[in-house]
Amino acid sequence: MEVVILPGSRQIGRLAADAIEALLRQKPDAVLGLATGSSPLPVYDELSRRHLEEGLDFSRAHAFALDEYVGLEPGHPESYREVIRREFTDRVNIDPANVHSPDGTAEDLQAACQEYEDAIRERGGVDLQILGVGTDGHIGFNEPGSSLVSRTRIKTLIEQTRKDNARFFRSIDDVPHHVVTQGLGTILDARHVILLATGAQKAQAVRDFVEGPVAAICAASVLQLHPHATILIDEAAASSLRLADYYRHAFENKPKWQGL
Ligand code: GLP
Repeated sequence: MEVVILPGSRQIGRLAADAIEALLRQKPDAVLGLATGSSPLPVYDELSRRHLEEGLDFSRAHAFALDEYVGLEPGHPESYREVIRREFTDRVNIDPANVHSPDGTAEDLQAACQEYEDAIRERGGVDLQILGVGTDGHIGFNEPGSSLVSRTRIKTLIEQTRKDNARFFRSIDDVPHHVVTQGLGTILDARHVILLATGAQKAQAVRDFVEGPVAAICAASVLQLHPHATILIDEAAASSLRLADYYRHAFENKPKWQGL
């Protein structure tokens, strides 16, 4: 796990975009894993800027979203399919047919989860997965207690997550209780994982998953088992880390050719 502490979200967005740009230049038909929430927005802004101003090309890329609410009608502005479209894929030249989301409206949700797993595998797996982290340490919607080897499935949200996400809805009563999410095992299969976190409200979760034990109580801690996980955080999110100085030292002295 590489922890990189940066001054703010603009720098985080740029560094994550550098990694995605390098991947696309080397593999134009790369498979991107997309996350929702506020954390990835600076990355999507930067990628769309590079597309518009520098011609960064997504025409052959594919994308899979991490998760989706259950039961929001198709086209609901807060369904993650819509959020991903609005915040990112409509702003670059990725083919909409190549952008996939778990289906939260399927009659047979379990079958839809299996189909999603199959679709990721048939596409060759995710090359680079963008992640945020919840205040309880969830990634995707893998709430505390999620199996560390789980695959795409239905989960029930913890009340705190519904409260955290209520800001996107008219009221907390509109936040669904159930979701479909890639599992922790699914996320671990991605070849490179970049997790982004900013703000003091994430400091405890960051401390727990970076320096605490690998345990289902903090789902993101499973990333300690990933061979190529990059954690991009600002000073506030890094404020509870014991080894912050070491992470800074390691990054400052990293040969530039290594990339992320
Ligand atoms: C939601 C999403 C997660 C995201 C989390 C944090 O619960 N399912 O993928 O990481 O929110 O969101 P934010 O980045 O807005 O703090």
